[in-house]
Amino acid sequence: MAFSGTGKIWMNGSLVNWADAKIHVGSHVVHYGSGVFEGARCYSTPRGSACFRLDAHMRRLIDSCKIYRMEPQVSLAVLTDAVLETIRANAFKACYIRPIIYRGYNELGVNPFPCPVDAAILTWEWGAYLGQDALENGVDVRISSWARPAANTFPTLAKTSANYANSQLIKMEAVTEGYSEGIALDTAGYLSEGSGQNLFVVRDNVIYTPPLTASILPGITRDSVLALAGDLGFRVREEMLPREMLYICDEAFFVGTAVEITPIRSVDKIPVGNGRRGPITEALQTAFFDVINGEAPDQHGWLSYVYPGEPLQTAAAAGAARSKGR
Ligand SMILES: Cc1ncc(COP(=O)(O)O)c(C=O)c1O
Repeated sequence: MAFSGTGKIWMNGSLVNWADAKIHVGSHVVHYGSGVFEGARCYSTPRGSACFRLDAHMRRLIDSCKIYRMEPQVSLAVLTDAVLETIRANAFKACYIRPIIYRGYNELGVNPFPCPVDAAILTWEWGAYLGQDALENGVDVRISSWARPAANTFPTLAKTSANYANSQLIKMEAVTEGYSEGIALDTAGYLSEGSGQNLFVVRDNVIYTPPLTASILPGITRDSVLALAGDLGFRVREEMLPREMLYICDEAFFVGTAVEITPIRSVDKIPVGNGRRGPITEALQTAFFDVINGEAPDQHGWLSYVYPGEPLQTAAAAGAARSKGR
């Protein structure tokens, strides 16, 4: 979906008009992918606009900086406040949030140290990443011919712009061949993740997901789904998974800020289970969407409200608070 091209963007401490949020073509990040970024969402709930796990996203942003020896000019607290300020400046009820910290303009040697560490925060309205229909009916995917980076090459615990060169290869191959997404293996041949989402599979009522050592980004949605699966009493195992697990599992689904929880209905043209969204996927979707839509108590403290006066006390929230206090 193309940008509307209006509104405000936060750049190095100031809110600027969308059209003025420019950097020089000589900036280090343009040539060498020397940026780290986040993707979070703000949801419109009955109690007001709330960011989902903003603290966890901002922590991962700072972790990514640390891995790449970047020292942001402002603190984590200032950056977090700036996210809220940017949403308010655009008067969004719901939006996607993209903070980025990058090596700016000074010189173009590979050594990034002489370049300033700049920061920007974009927000825009962005609906279901793979389409609304995908959330219910699932997507068709292929195993990518591209692997995720090997250990000790590109660190996958960092959400760096450079890693998305690999993601683009996975995504382009998939869409060129008529699939919605690709799933990459790690260099040892075990299941890793999609181009921009983590992966879960279900077999015999046990939920499996690849561990951090399978070259995955440590997804915030993945972590949330693990917590919700625990709340719902499911058995969950984080372990290395062979490719063929995807061909024989009962259910499979992607998770991520963009895709939220999206069922996978076929892999390499082999139907997953009966080719429809499975019951465990649906139960996790319901639990997840109930929290982000404010229809269930936020018992993990995942929502941070954006506007003064929010959260609003609604009858449902007051009831939930009363029963929690019992
Ligand atoms: C490669 C990759 N894996 C996983 C994810 C999911 O992470 P999160 O749930 O934090 O959005 C993303 C999304 O940013 C991603 O780009």
